[in-house]
Amino acid sequence: MAEFARPGAQEWVPDGGDVAELRAAAPDCRGCELYRDATQVVFGSGTSRARLMLVGEQPGDQEDRIGEPFVGPAGRLLGDALGEAGIDSSAAYVTNAVKHFRFELRGKRRLHKSPAVAHIGACNPWLEAELKAVGPEVVVALGATAARGVLGRPAKVGAERGRALPDRLGAAEDARVVLTVHPSAVLRLRGTPDFDGEFAALIADLRTAAALLE
Ligand code: URA
Ligand code: SF4
Repeated sequence: MAEFARPGAQEWVPDGGDVAELRAAAPDCRGCELYRDATQVVFGSGTSRARLMLVGEQPGDQEDRIGEPFVGPAGRLLGDALGEAGIDSSAAYVTNAVKHFRFELRGKRRLHKSPAVAHIGACNPWLEAELKAVGPEVVVALGATAARGVLGRPAKVGAERGRALPDRLGAAEDARVVLTVHPSAVLRLRGTPDFDGEFAALIADLRTAAALLE
């Protein structure tokens, strides 16, 4: 594959844009090479001035086809966990640390491939702009990629999950950040003895986030 200069998203992000303006500009982004093989950009969606923002990793196969975050199997598990935690997901804003689907072709199947640190960095101007535009009080980072995008540093989810962390750059003023696992990681445990415990732990972390809003 030809070398691709990875300038990062900044030059495509409208300065001070609200969520609608950001969403409208995102399809033009050429901040990294991931746009080339993906079907479309998957921007954040939900309540544009939400008190709670949920950040995932990157769109999956179905999100890439449909163009909305968390509409596939991981999204259904997340929806169940939010319901169990008493969170009204329609009042939240949901997005991803990386806005294009990264995958590997195996025959006709597109297998999810985690974004590299360089992709998280390239796409970070979108996430920062969303944080500024939405202005959430609490940000839940789902998994290590989201944690890195939100905190701007590597984080061990196992060690730091489930408690209020300070927002790093003040991208969202005074927001507190709660790390938890990615719902796909819980989904993979379905049918194993570990599933119930991990699902319960995800719900507990979401409850911690909800309590910060009270
Ligand atoms: N996994 C994510 O991290 N985000 C999505 O939008 C879907 C699956
Ligand atoms: Fe732009 Fe992010 Fe897509 Fe890369 S992944 S092209 S930085 S929107």
